[in-house]
Amino acid sequence: MARVLLLIPTTSYRAKDFLDATDAVGATAVVGSDQPQVLADAAPGTSLAVDFHDIDAGVATIAAFHRDYPLDAIIPADEQAAVLAAAASHALNLDHSPTHAVQIAGNKHLLRQALAPAPVDSPAFTVLSVDDDPSKAARSVTYPCVLKPLSLSGSRGVLRADGDNSFVEAFFRVKQIIEDAGDRAGPDRDKILVEAYVPGIEVALEALLIDGELHPLALFDKPDPLEGPTFEETIYVTPSRLDDTTQGAVIAATSNAAKAIGLAQGPVHAELRINDGGIWVIEVAARSIGGLCGRTLKFGAGLSLEEIILRHALGLPQSDLDRGADASGVMMIPIPSGGVLASVGGQDAARDVPGIEDVRITIPDGQPVVPLPEGDKYLGFIFARGEDPATVEAALRTAHAALEIKIDPAES
Ligand SMILES: Nc1ncnc2c1ncn2[C@@H]1O[C@H](COP(=O)(O)OP(=O)(O)O)[C@@H](O)[C@H]1O
Ligand SMILES: [Mg+2]
Repeated sequence: MARVLLLIPTTSYRAKDFLDATDAVGATAVVGSDQPQVLADAAPGTSLAVDFHDIDAGVATIAAFHRDYPLDAIIPADEQAAVLAAAASHALNLDHSPTHAVQIAGNKHLLRQALAPAPVDSPAFTVLSVDDDPSKAARSVTYPCVLKPLSLSGSRGVLRADGDNSFVEAFFRVKQIIEDAGDRAGPDRDKILVEAYVPGIEVALEALLIDGELHPLALFDKPDPLEGPTFEETIYVTPSRLDDTTQGAVIAATSNAAKAIGLAQGPVHAELRINDGGIWVIEVAARSIGGLCGRTLKFGAGLSLEEIILRHALGLPQSDLDRGADASGVMMIPIPSGGVLASVGGQDAARDVPGIEDVRITIPDGQPVVPLPEGDKYLGFIFARGEDPATVEAALRTAHAALEIKIDPAES
């Protein structure tokens, strides 16, 4: 039986989906965690405590484990573990994208540098030190612009600025967010990236790279405007309602970007903006879609996204990567205000909306909730399926409107 090491950060939403997928493909899972206490009762050979951020030490730990319990694939459940998975795969001679390419995809400054000479549209950028004087920088940037940390995700710490005052304010806010994120902000946490703001509509492409070739899995429209100053992800609906030519151009742009970065194997999640000036690559991450959003996708005879990823990593025959004819979508429920979550009412009513498949509130009552740009969690997820994208979008909006989210303001 094949053995798969799943690198699962404790903050990941995806442990269950990857474990279920490992079962479904007939492999044995080894859970790799950065929190040794969650592994306390595990049987020998079924778990591994490993530091996701100390790559050399992590590779040595995994290589030692591999001598006793040979591994056939190493899968990161989230961005945070992607570089370690690549480096360890390299050490164990498992097929994978080059470590350097995965590092580029996980670092927004390296990404912009890699895309600048490539045949893709990528916004102008400059990088600042967190110790720079932002009032000086504010005089030399072109507005509107976007400030962002180099290695966070989920729009955490991403802020638009339209002028000197909002730039200076945003700079200090992003600096604090990076400081609060600690290790998670990556090795370049002394820097802030500033990019030209790209207007336009936004899409997300989910794809699988097989031997350097990009295979699209799903193209999602993001029908809610994302104009800042913060960039809450909300609704994703697939298939896209864009015309075929534009869809083809989005796929080609992502493929060119992946080549420029050097990615060759495994899942990619790309975000692009479309306007009269072109198809702009905002992000290409060497991972699959985050949160529980992957649950909206089923392939061929009903395979999950995680099964597709595992089958590819294990070199198993890949059945059909076709998503089928129906439309599906997910709403990442944003946290509307900060405080303590008192209750989320109306969940049954939301589930009863025609087309709604599931409503998952992922923060328990009584827990603190922090909205963007500081927050790093969604309140939950709403899943819908239907005949066409417009029906799915409408169902998601109706279900969201049925929720009664009560948050007690934090005492100050
Ligand atoms: N240069 C930009 N122009 C316009 N919008 C942007 C730009 N950069 C980021 N955004 C918006 O912010 C969101 C999050 O930024 P992104 O770079 O993807 O960071 P994250 O890794 O946190 O998702 C994007 O999906 C997009 O809506
Ligand atoms: Mg993004």
